[in-house]
Amino acid sequence: MIALGSDHGGLQLKDAVKKLLAERGIPFEDCGTDNGNSVDYPDFGEKVARKVAAGAVEKGILFCGTGIGMSIVANKFPHVRAALVTDAFMARMAKEHNNANILVLGGRVLNEDEAREMVATWLDATFEGGRHQGRLDKIALIEQEIYRTGPRKD
Ligand code: RB5
Repeated sequence: MIALGSDHGGLQLKDAVKKLLAERGIPFEDCGTDNGNSVDYPDFGEKVARKVAAGAVEKGILFCGTGIGMSIVANKFPHVRAALVTDAFMARMAKEHNNANILVLGGRVLNEDEAREMVATWLDATFEGGRHQGRLDKIALIEQEIYRTGPRKD
């Protein structure tokens, strides 16, 4: 299951990606927004990132105007590795090297075909593990320490 979320700036790309997922028979849950009215991206980023952080869904895809706001929000959550990508190479690396569990796309940066290509590339890619797993383990340790004790000043 993939959770989707956008603000008004990402709504059109979200709709395009929903079509792609439907064509591929991939189940998804649309967490909004569902119309073009101006909304606040943290409200929708939070919905999706909470589901991924809790293990309620395996993956998420977030959309806002640039993708920047959504990636900032999503990466506040434990166990979330959200990757803002702008081309297919980055989308592939986001999975192969970073095992990103949330993909973030900018509705004012990408057209629908580009977004579909990036989502398909990310979904089809495989995490390489090995040295990359070691790096993700280091990120997880940092995350655990910060949640336990708060950020250090050094
Ligand atoms: C909304 O105007 C815009 O700021 C938002 O979609 C996003 O680009 C934020 O990072």
